[in-house]
Amino acid sequence: MSRTLLRNSLTIAIFLAISWAVLSIEENDYDENNPELAGYLEGDIVPDSLTRNGYPDRKWPNNTIKYVFSWSFTEAQKETVRKCCRELENRTCVHCRETIFLDYGYVYLTNEEGGCFSQVGFQPYPFAQIMNLGPNCLKNHVIVCHEFMHALGLSHAHNSYDRDDHVRINFENIKEGNEYNFEKKEDSLDCLVPYDRESSMGYGPYVGSKNGNETITPLDGNYTGMGQRKRIADSDIEKINRIYCYNNCTATTNTTTTTTTTTSATTTITEETTTTEETTTTIMW
Ligand SMILES: *[C@@H]1O[C@H](CO)[C@@H](O)[C@H](O)[C@H]1NC(C)=O
Ligand SMILES: *[C@@H]1O[C@H](CO)[C@@H](O)[C@H](O)[C@H]1NC(C)=O
Ligand SMILES: *[C@@H]1O[C@H](CO)[C@@H](O)[C@H](O)[C@H]1NC(C)=O
Ligand SMILES: *[C@@H]1O[C@H](CO)[C@@H](O)[C@H](O)[C@H]1NC(C)=O
Ligand SMILES: *[C@@H]1O[C@H](CO)[C@@H](O)[C@H](O)[C@H]1NC(C)=O
Ligand SMILES: *[C@@H]1O[C@H](CO)[C@@H](O)[C@H](O)[C@H]1NC(C)=O
Ligand SMILES: [Zn+2]
Repeated sequence: MSRTLLRNSLTIAIFLAISWAVLSIEENDYDENNPELAGYLEGDIVPDSLTRNGYPDRKWPNNTIKYVFSWSFTEAQKETVRKCCRELENRTCVHCRETIFLDYGYVYLTNEEGGCFSQVGFQPYPFAQIMNLGPNCLKNHVIVCHEFMHALGLSHAHNSYDRDDHVRINFENIKEGNEYNFEKKEDSLDCLVPYDRESSMGYGPYVGSKNGNETITPLDGNYTGMGQRKRIADSDIEKINRIYCYNNCTATTNTTTTTTTTTSATTTITEETTTTEETTTTIMW
Protein backbone atom coordinates (compact mmCIF):
# COMPACT_ATOMS: atom_id res chain seq x y z
CA MET A 1 0.00 0.00 0.00
CA SER A 2 1.41 3.40 -0.90
CA ARG A 3 1.93 6.00 1.77
CA THR A 4 -0.82 8.18 0.35
CA LEU A 5 -3.28 5.34 0.25
CA LEU A 6 -2.38 4.30 3.79
CA ARG A 7 -2.78 7.85 5.00
CA ASN A 8 -6.13 8.29 3.29
CA SER A 9 -7.39 5.00 4.72
CA LEU A 10 -6.36 6.08 8.19
CA THR A 11 -8.02 9.43 7.69
CA ILE A 12 -11.26 7.74 6.69
CA ALA A 13 -11.03 5.48 9.75
CA ILE A 14 -10.56 8.50 11.99
CA PHE A 15 -13.46 10.27 10.30
CA LEU A 16 -15.70 7.27 10.96
CA ALA A 17 -14.56 7.16 14.59
CA ILE A 18 -15.38 10.83 15.05
CA SER A 19 -18.76 10.40 13.36
CA TRP A 20 -19.49 7.54 15.71
CA ALA A 21 -18.48 9.63 18.72
CA VAL A 22 -20.67 12.52 17.61
CA LEU A 23 -23.64 10.28 16.84
CA SER A 24 -23.32 8.75 20.32
CA ILE A 25 -23.79 12.13 21.96
CA GLU A 26 -27.54 11.79 22.07
CA GLU A 27 -27.22 8.87 24.44
CA ASN A 28 -25.62 11.12 27.02
CA ASP A 29 -27.47 13.10 29.62
CA TYR A 30 -27.80 16.67 28.37
CA ASP A 31 -29.07 19.61 30.38
CA GLU A 32 -30.51 22.44 28.24
CA ASN A 33 -29.70 25.01 30.86
CA ASN A 34 -26.05 24.07 31.09
CA PRO A 35 -24.66 23.75 27.59
CA GLU A 36 -21.39 22.51 29.04
CA LEU A 37 -23.05 19.71 31.01
CA ALA A 38 -23.09 17.23 28.19
CA GLY A 39 -23.12 14.08 30.30
CA TYR A 40 -19.40 13.56 30.09
CA LEU A 41 -16.82 13.42 32.83
CA GLU A 42 -16.99 16.73 34.75
CA GLY A 43 -19.85 17.79 32.55
CA ASP A 44 -18.01 18.63 29.38
CA ILE A 45 -14.81 16.65 29.50
CA VAL A 46 -14.45 13.65 27.23
CA PRO A 47 -12.68 10.81 29.03
CA ASP A 48 -9.78 9.21 27.28
CA SER A 49 -7.95 5.96 27.73
CA LEU A 50 -4.60 7.53 28.52
CA THR A 51 -3.35 7.80 32.04
CA ARG A 52 -4.08 11.17 33.56
CA ASN A 53 -1.07 11.22 35.81
CA GLY A 54 1.51 12.37 33.34
CA TYR A 55 0.99 15.78 31.83
CA PRO A 56 4.26 16.18 29.90
CA ASP A 57 2.72 14.93 26.69
CA ARG A 58 -0.36 17.13 26.87
CA LYS A 59 1.13 20.40 25.68
CA TRP A 60 0.46 21.42 22.07
CA PRO A 61 3.63 21.33 19.93
CA ASN A 62 5.05 24.72 18.95
CA ASN A 63 2.52 26.39 21.30
CA THR A 64 0.00 26.02 18.50
CA ILE A 65 -3.50 24.62 18.83
CA LYS A 66 -4.82 23.63 15.41
CA TYR A 67 -8.43 22.97 14.43
CA VAL A 68 -10.64 21.98 11.52
CA PHE A 69 -14.30 22.94 11.16
CA SER A 70 -16.77 20.23 10.18
CA TRP A 71 -18.80 21.10 7.07
CA SER A 72 -21.85 22.28 9.03
CA PHE A 73 -20.47 25.44 10.65
CA THR A 74 -22.06 28.68 9.53
CA GLU A 75 -19.87 31.70 8.82
CA ALA A 76 -21.18 33.40 12.00
CA GLN A 77 -20.28 30.33 14.09
CA LYS A 78 -16.80 30.24 12.60
CA GLU A 79 -16.41 33.90 13.48
CA THR A 80 -17.20 33.14 17.16
CA VAL A 81 -14.44 30.51 17.19
CA ARG A 82 -12.02 32.93 15.53
CA LYS A 83 -12.90 35.58 18.10
CA CYS A 84 -11.87 33.17 20.85
CA CYS A 85 -8.63 32.47 18.97
CA ARG A 86 -7.89 36.18 18.63
CA GLU A 87 -8.33 36.72 22.35
CA LEU A 88 -6.11 33.74 23.24
CA GLU A 89 -3.46 34.96 20.80
CA ASN A 90 -3.68 38.48 22.17
CA ARG A 91 -3.36 37.53 25.83
CA THR A 92 -1.05 34.48 25.66
CA CYS A 93 1.81 33.21 23.48
CA VAL A 94 -0.43 30.41 22.20
CA HIS A 95 -1.14 30.39 18.47
CA CYS A 96 -4.46 29.21 17.13
CA ARG A 97 -4.53 28.00 13.53
CA GLU A 98 -7.18 26.61 11.24
CA THR A 99 -5.74 23.69 9.32
CA ILE A 100 -6.75 21.04 6.79
CA PHE A 101 -8.36 17.66 7.30
CA LEU A 102 -5.23 15.74 6.25
CA ASP A 103 -3.01 17.43 8.83
CA TYR A 104 -1.87 15.55 11.95
CA GLY A 105 -2.74 16.54 15.52
CA TYR A 106 -5.66 18.94 15.51
CA VAL A 107 -9.07 19.48 17.10
CA TYR A 108 -11.93 18.38 14.85
CA LEU A 109 -14.72 20.85 15.66
CA THR A 110 -18.33 19.70 15.36
CA ASN A 111 -21.50 21.67 16.13
CA GLU A 112 -24.01 18.94 16.90
CA GLU A 113 -26.78 19.28 19.48
CA GLY A 114 -25.76 17.85 22.84
CA GLY A 115 -23.80 20.55 24.56
CA CYS A 116 -20.13 21.46 24.51
CA PHE A 117 -17.28 19.16 25.37
CA SER A 118 -13.61 18.64 24.79
CA GLN A 119 -10.73 16.39 25.66
CA VAL A 120 -8.20 17.80 28.12
CA GLY A 121 -4.80 18.66 26.69
CA PHE A 122 -3.17 17.70 23.42
CA GLN A 123 -3.86 14.05 22.66
CA PRO A 124 -0.56 12.50 21.72
CA TYR A 125 -1.79 10.32 18.91
CA PRO A 126 -2.04 11.20 15.23
CA PHE A 127 -4.92 12.92 13.48
CA ALA A 128 -7.79 14.53 15.30
CA GLN A 129 -9.12 14.95 18.81
CA ILE A 130 -12.74 15.85 19.31
CA MET A 131 -14.54 18.98 20.48
CA ASN A 132 -18.25 19.59 20.10
CA LEU A 133 -19.63 23.11 20.21
CA GLY A 134 -23.43 22.81 20.22
CA PRO A 135 -25.42 25.80 18.91
CA ASN A 136 -25.75 27.26 22.43
CA CYS A 137 -21.98 27.19 22.91
CA LEU A 138 -21.41 29.10 19.68
CA LYS A 139 -23.33 32.18 20.77
CA ASN A 140 -20.53 33.24 23.11
CA HIS A 141 -16.81 33.18 22.42
CA VAL A 142 -16.01 32.73 26.13
CA ILE A 143 -17.83 29.36 26.13
CA VAL A 144 -15.83 28.41 23.04
CA CYS A 145 -12.67 29.49 24.86
CA HIS A 146 -13.71 27.41 27.92
CA GLU A 147 -13.55 24.34 25.66
CA PHE A 148 -10.36 25.52 23.93
CA MET A 149 -8.76 25.96 27.36
CA HIS A 150 -9.68 22.35 28.19
CA ALA A 151 -7.98 21.34 24.94
CA LEU A 152 -4.96 23.40 25.98
CA GLY A 153 -4.85 21.44 29.26
CA LEU A 154 -6.90 23.25 31.91
CA SER A 155 -9.36 21.45 34.21
CA HIS A 156 -12.32 22.89 36.11
CA ALA A 157 -11.81 25.15 39.13
CA HIS A 158 -14.06 22.97 41.33
CA ASN A 159 -11.93 19.87 40.75
CA SER A 160 -8.75 21.48 42.06
CA TYR A 161 -6.93 19.69 44.89
CA ASP A 162 -7.48 22.73 47.15
CA ARG A 163 -11.13 23.34 46.27
CA ASP A 164 -12.26 22.30 49.78
CA ASP A 165 -10.60 25.45 51.08
CA HIS A 166 -13.00 27.51 48.95
CA VAL A 167 -16.20 25.61 48.21
CA ARG A 168 -18.39 22.90 49.69
CA ILE A 169 -19.71 20.24 47.32
CA ASN A 170 -23.26 19.24 48.31
CA PHE A 171 -23.37 15.65 47.14
CA GLU A 172 -26.93 15.25 48.49
CA ASN A 173 -28.16 17.67 45.81
CA ILE A 174 -26.26 16.19 42.88
CA LYS A 175 -28.17 14.17 40.30
CA GLU A 176 -27.58 10.44 40.68
CA GLY A 177 -24.75 9.31 38.46
CA ASN A 178 -23.23 12.78 38.29
CA GLU A 179 -21.18 12.59 41.48
CA TYR A 180 -18.00 11.80 39.61
CA ASN A 181 -18.22 15.23 37.97
CA PHE A 182 -17.49 16.75 41.34
CA GLU A 183 -14.65 14.55 42.51
CA LYS A 184 -11.49 16.25 43.59
CA LYS A 185 -8.35 15.69 41.57
CA GLU A 186 -5.45 15.44 43.98
CA ASP A 187 -3.05 15.71 41.06
CA SER A 188 -4.71 18.70 39.45
CA LEU A 189 -2.39 21.09 37.78
CA ASP A 190 -3.02 24.62 38.96
CA CYS A 191 0.37 26.16 38.11
CA LEU A 192 0.22 27.66 41.64
CA VAL A 193 -2.38 30.15 40.42
CA PRO A 194 -4.72 30.66 43.40
CA TYR A 195 -8.32 29.44 43.23
CA ASP A 196 -10.45 32.05 41.47
CA ARG A 197 -14.22 32.07 42.03
CA GLU A 198 -14.60 34.11 38.83
CA SER A 199 -12.63 31.72 36.64
CA SER A 200 -14.24 31.00 33.29
CA MET A 201 -13.26 27.37 34.04
CA GLY A 202 -15.52 27.37 37.13
CA TYR A 203 -19.13 26.24 37.44
CA GLY A 204 -22.11 28.06 38.90
CA PRO A 205 -23.72 26.90 42.17
CA TYR A 206 -26.57 24.86 40.60
CA VAL A 207 -24.76 22.80 37.98
CA GLY A 208 -25.88 19.15 38.09
CA SER A 209 -28.58 19.77 40.74
CA LYS A 210 -31.40 17.24 41.06
CA ASN A 211 -33.59 19.30 43.38
CA GLY A 212 -32.94 22.96 42.66
CA ASN A 213 -30.62 23.28 45.63
CA GLU A 214 -26.98 24.24 45.36
CA THR A 215 -24.39 21.68 44.36
CA ILE A 216 -21.46 24.06 44.92
CA THR A 217 -21.51 26.51 47.84
CA PRO A 218 -18.76 29.11 48.31
CA LEU A 219 -17.42 28.93 51.87
CA ASP A 220 -17.09 32.72 52.11
CA GLY A 221 -20.73 33.18 51.03
CA ASN A 222 -19.71 35.27 48.04
CA TYR A 223 -21.31 34.09 44.78
CA THR A 224 -20.08 36.97 42.63
CA GLY A 225 -18.93 35.73 39.24
CA MET A 226 -19.33 32.00 39.96
CA GLY A 227 -19.68 30.19 36.66
CA GLN A 228 -19.44 33.41 34.68
CA ARG A 229 -18.91 33.19 30.91
CA LYS A 230 -18.67 36.89 30.14
CA ARG A 231 -14.90 37.16 30.08
CA ILE A 232 -11.83 34.96 30.27
CA ALA A 233 -10.47 35.48 33.75
CA ASP A 234 -6.92 36.73 34.25
CA SER A 235 -6.29 33.61 36.36
CA ASP A 236 -7.10 31.34 33.38
CA ILE A 237 -4.84 33.36 31.12
CA GLU A 238 -2.08 33.22 33.74
CA LYS A 239 -2.28 29.40 33.83
CA ILE A 240 -1.96 29.18 30.06
CA ASN A 241 0.99 31.55 30.14
CA ARG A 242 2.74 29.56 32.87
CA ILE A 243 2.26 26.33 30.92
CA TYR A 244 3.09 27.57 27.43
CA CYS A 245 4.96 30.86 27.72
CA TYR A 246 6.96 30.91 30.97
CA ASN A 247 7.38 27.14 31.25
CA ASN A 248 7.00 27.35 35.00
CA CYS A 249 3.68 25.64 35.63
CA THR A 250 4.04 23.85 38.93
CA ALA A 251 1.55 21.70 40.73
CA THR A 252 1.34 20.67 44.33
CA THR A 253 1.46 16.95 44.84
CA ASN A 254 0.33 15.16 47.93
CA THR A 255 1.29 12.38 50.32
CA THR A 256 -1.94 10.50 49.81
CA THR A 257 -2.47 7.53 47.53
CA THR A 258 -5.73 7.75 45.65
CA THR A 259 -7.24 5.12 43.46
CA THR A 260 -10.43 6.06 41.70
CA THR A 261 -12.25 4.10 39.08
CA THR A 262 -14.53 6.12 36.88
CA THR A 263 -16.90 4.38 34.53
CA SER A 264 -18.48 6.17 31.63
CA ALA A 265 -20.53 4.95 28.71
CA THR A 266 -17.49 4.02 26.67
CA THR A 267 -14.33 4.10 28.75
CA THR A 268 -13.02 3.01 32.10
CA ILE A 269 -10.32 5.17 33.54
CA THR A 270 -8.21 4.16 36.45
CA GLU A 271 -6.39 6.98 38.13
CA GLU A 272 -3.58 6.37 40.50
CA THR A 273 -1.56 9.00 42.25
CA THR A 274 1.37 8.03 44.35
CA THR A 275 3.83 10.47 45.79
CA THR A 276 6.25 9.87 48.59
CA GLU A 277 6.28 13.25 50.23
CA GLU A 278 4.46 16.51 50.05
CA THR A 279 6.45 18.47 47.52
CA THR A 280 6.09 21.03 44.80
CA THR A 281 6.90 19.56 41.43
CA THR A 282 7.56 21.29 38.18
CA ILE A 283 5.64 19.61 35.41
CA MET A 284 7.68 19.60 32.24
CA TRP A 285 5.12 20.46 29.60
C1 LIG B 1 5.62 27.27 14.80
O1 LIG B 1 4.70 28.35 14.88
C2 LIG B 1 5.08 29.50 14.17
C3 LIG B 1 4.09 30.60 14.46
O2 LIG B 1 2.79 30.19 14.18
C4 LIG B 1 5.16 29.17 12.68
O3 LIG B 1 5.57 30.30 11.96
C5 LIG B 1 6.17 28.04 12.47
O4 LIG B 1 6.17 27.65 11.12
C6 LIG B 1 5.79 26.85 13.35
N1 LIG B 1 6.82 25.84 13.24
C7 LIG B 1 6.54 24.57 13.04
C8 LIG B 1 7.70 23.63 13.01
O5 LIG B 1 5.39 24.17 12.90
C1 LIG C 1 -5.61 42.94 22.65
O1 LIG C 1 -5.73 43.25 24.04
C2 LIG C 1 -5.66 44.63 24.32
C3 LIG C 1 -5.64 44.82 25.84
O2 LIG C 1 -6.18 43.73 26.51
C4 LIG C 1 -6.85 45.31 23.67
O3 LIG C 1 -6.83 46.69 23.94
C5 LIG C 1 -6.80 45.08 22.18
O4 LIG C 1 -7.93 45.62 21.57
C6 LIG C 1 -6.73 43.59 21.89
N1 LIG C 1 -6.52 43.39 20.47
C7 LIG C 1 -7.19 42.50 19.79
C8 LIG C 1 -6.82 42.36 18.34
O5 LIG C 1 -8.04 41.78 20.28
C1 LIG D 1 -33.29 22.57 49.70
O1 LIG D 1 -32.68 23.32 50.73
C2 LIG D 1 -33.59 23.84 51.65
C3 LIG D 1 -32.81 24.76 52.58
O2 LIG D 1 -31.65 24.11 53.04
C4 LIG D 1 -34.27 22.71 52.40
O3 LIG D 1 -35.20 23.22 53.32
C5 LIG D 1 -34.99 21.85 51.38
O4 LIG D 1 -35.53 20.72 52.00
C6 LIG D 1 -34.04 21.39 50.29
N1 LIG D 1 -34.79 20.73 49.25
C7 LIG D 1 -34.54 19.49 48.87
C8 LIG D 1 -35.42 18.95 47.79
O5 LIG D 1 -33.61 18.83 49.34
C1 LIG E 1 -17.43 39.32 46.50
O1 LIG E 1 -16.23 39.28 45.73
C2 LIG E 1 -16.09 40.36 44.83
C3 LIG E 1 -14.86 40.13 44.01
O2 LIG E 1 -14.91 38.89 43.42
C4 LIG E 1 -15.98 41.64 45.61
O3 LIG E 1 -15.88 42.73 44.74
C5 LIG E 1 -17.22 41.80 46.50
O4 LIG E 1 -17.04 42.92 47.31
C6 LIG E 1 -17.41 40.56 47.34
N1 LIG E 1 -18.68 40.69 48.06
C7 LIG E 1 -18.79 40.50 49.36
C8 LIG E 1 -20.16 40.64 49.93
O5 LIG E 1 -17.82 40.22 50.04
C1 LIG F 1 6.29 32.15 36.31
O1 LIG F 1 6.86 33.20 35.56
C2 LIG F 1 6.07 34.40 35.56
C3 LIG F 1 6.72 35.37 34.59
O2 LIG F 1 8.08 35.45 34.82
C4 LIG F 1 5.97 34.93 36.97
O3 LIG F 1 5.17 36.10 36.99
C5 LIG F 1 5.33 33.88 37.86
O4 LIG F 1 5.31 34.29 39.19
C6 LIG F 1 6.11 32.54 37.76
N1 LIG F 1 5.36 31.55 38.48
C7 LIG F 1 5.94 30.61 39.20
C8 LIG F 1 5.05 29.63 39.86
O5 LIG F 1 7.14 30.53 39.33
C1 LIG G 1 -3.00 16.78 50.94
O1 LIG G 1 -4.00 15.86 51.34
C2 LIG G 1 -4.44 16.04 52.67
C3 LIG G 1 -5.44 14.95 52.99
O2 LIG G 1 -6.36 14.79 51.93
C4 LIG G 1 -5.05 17.43 52.82
O3 LIG G 1 -5.43 17.66 54.15
C5 LIG G 1 -4.02 18.48 52.42
O4 LIG G 1 -4.62 19.75 52.43
C6 LIG G 1 -3.52 18.20 51.02
N1 LIG G 1 -2.50 19.15 50.67
C7 LIG G 1 -2.48 19.72 49.50
C8 LIG G 1 -1.40 20.70 49.29
O5 LIG G 1 -3.28 19.44 48.64
ZN1 LIG H 1 -15.61 22.51 31.11
